[in-house]
Amino acid sequence: MNDIKERIELLRDMLHRHNYNYYVLNAPEISDKEFDDLMRELQDLEAEHPEYADPNSPTMRVGSDLSKEFTQVEHKYPMLSLGNTYSEAEVREFFERVKKQLGKEFEICCELKYDGTSISLTYEQGRLVRAVTRGDGVRGDDVTDNVKTIRTIPLVLHGDYPSEFEIRGEILMPWESFERLNKEREAREEPLFANPRNAASGTLKLQNSSVVAERKLDAYLYYLLGEQLPCEGHYENLQTAASWGLKISEHMKKAHSIEEVMDYINYWDVERKNLPVATDGIVLKVNDIRQQRLLGYTAKSPRWAIAYKFQAERALTRLNKVTYQVGRTGAITPVANLDPVQLSGTVVQRASLHNADIIAGLDLHIGDMVYVEKGGEIIPKITGVDLDARGILLGDKVGFITRCPECGTPLLRIEGEAAHYCPNQAACPPQIKGRIEHFISRKAMNIDGLGPETVDLFFQQGMINDAADLYTLTVDDIKRLERMGEKSALHILDSLERSKQVPYERTLFALGIRFVGETVAKKLAKAFPSIEELEQADLQKLIDVDEIGEKIANSILQFFADEKNRLLVQRLKAIGLQFARKEDEMTAASDKLKGLSIVISGVFTEHSREEYKALIEQHGGKNVGSISGKTSFVLAGDNMGPSKLEKAQKLGVRIVSEKEFLEMIS
Ligand code: IVH
Repeated sequence: MNDIKERIELLRDMLHRHNYNYYVLNAPEISDKEFDDLMRELQDLEAEHPEYADPNSPTMRVGSDLSKEFTQVEHKYPMLSLGNTYSEAEVREFFERVKKQLGKEFEICCELKYDGTSISLTYEQGRLVRAVTRGDGVRGDDVTDNVKTIRTIPLVLHGDYPSEFEIRGEILMPWESFERLNKEREAREEPLFANPRNAASGTLKLQNSSVVAERKLDAYLYYLLGEQLPCEGHYENLQTAASWGLKISEHMKKAHSIEEVMDYINYWDVERKNLPVATDGIVLKVNDIRQQRLLGYTAKSPRWAIAYKFQAERALTRLNKVTYQVGRTGAITPVANLDPVQLSGTVVQRASLHNADIIAGLDLHIGDMVYVEKGGEIIPKITGVDLDARGILLGDKVGFITRCPECGTPLLRIEGEAAHYCPNQAACPPQIKGRIEHFISRKAMNIDGLGPETVDLFFQQGMINDAADLYTLTVDDIKRLERMGEKSALHILDSLERSKQVPYERTLFALGIRFVGETVAKKLAKAFPSIEELEQADLQKLIDVDEIGEKIANSILQFFADEKNRLLVQRLKAIGLQFARKEDEMTAASDKLKGLSIVISGVFTEHSREEYKALIEQHGGKNVGSISGKTSFVLAGDNMGPSKLEKAQKLGVRIVSEKEFLEMIS
């Protein structure tokens, strides 16, 4: 074997092991920097030697931009579901039934029921070859490329594994990732995921695996299948699978009596709230595999297992009225106003009613006693009406408004869409203010010193009606307002001035074109180097762009079809905002950072991390992954990691703020 091939294989072995130590065991043996260096060396070698490519190489974790339809694969063993119950009495019945049928001692393996989306993984010769969703139980979608981006799923196993086996489990989106994702979606006015389960399954079905990689999914595996399993017990099989590098829950427990089973249930009903992922119950499985075979299956589910589901937390309260909110795109959200009620640790007073269909489906009347649930959802929702609590005097039936609550314009409902819209984009106040708020937001033009309240104040005073008006404000205009002084006025004007340097892709995002979020704006800016080119693009040209479908394309066409929007863009352009990609973006700008090794850490406001990395290179500097004695300085944004900060301080490495850095290279 030649040296290069040997080195590549050694690097892959090392990286698989360190990946496992880090992600599965939470016990890294080497520093991030050492890991990054090994990874970079492997990436470089693989790029130079495509003949040694390996679909299971640790470098494959980053995902690819290639889109493809999923192929369907038949499951070797059908993926059955579990019989489930909400009642402890039925759990006792299950226990008694098993006892009677087996007629002798047995153990029950108690496990958490993870609330995500199920997956079947096939390993051959210790390598992950296939990951398939449950589908209809008989055949599912092959989502291998997406699953490979999940770092807790090993691509290559170690130890004494069978040559071929399948292992099933649950793909989950941890609460933390879920909340972050929804926050980002909210800012972009994209529909929120109702719960981590939907977010996980939606993510798994994305066509672009690099987006999957960003969303930080996790997985727990709970069922080993194959011809040659290592042990006779389910619990023991999984513990052995853990020794091959697979991620198995630490919370499995064997019980020998119904009391032990109940203790497990009661303990986790409370304690599950402290887990980083969502669970919706407990799964009980007869542990011995021979006993499992004896008990067998019904048409739908095994007789040797049952799921006990926790009651979703819900509360009963009175519906006082329904109000309607108008978003920046004109979408109307009905909101239930409730008598305050305690639910999962917070007081709930308002709940989303989503849309007209949901209201009609519930047959809601004012004064009804309604059930509110939080479950996995961030925004509580109304799930039902207590019909028994209705008296003879029924309140008014909740219909849906026909006119905008803010401006009185008749509402529209677009064929095929659930939401109603107020079409009065030009003069409906919350739409005008919403667009300006979006324009000034951090990820868009990032205008410091301005927020929803100031926007509202300026609007009330007739000072602004669109984003371009912001640039006509003077110090005198601002400082005469209540709670505004000369200092804050200057601050606002200064950040408006600075926003003229915000790159084209963010300016494009700031325009608030429906469905054009940050990522789409980036793609558009890449495909159409100037706003004129984008404005002139036809439907075909737009959908030729990667990830742009008809929905987005039509929204862009609609935006530019409106003369008011074209005028706004013209005014913003005349003011000096960036509406074209800078030609020198790719070429060297200076050698001001020549010979310097720079580490980037934290969150930035002026440019994205990627932009800073590009800037460092354009000015002759070198991006390095972690801090060492050789680091010239750390370019630090907000929330720099505490360990990095400590290390920098210990080694006496200089910390440079975003502002200082921009001055340095200007
Ligand atoms: S065992 C034949 N164990 O719950 C037994 N399932 O309706 C197969 N689930 O489709 C499943 N946690 O997606 C099993 N510890 C666990 C589980 C679990 C979650 C899911 C799984 C399954 C559904 C049962």
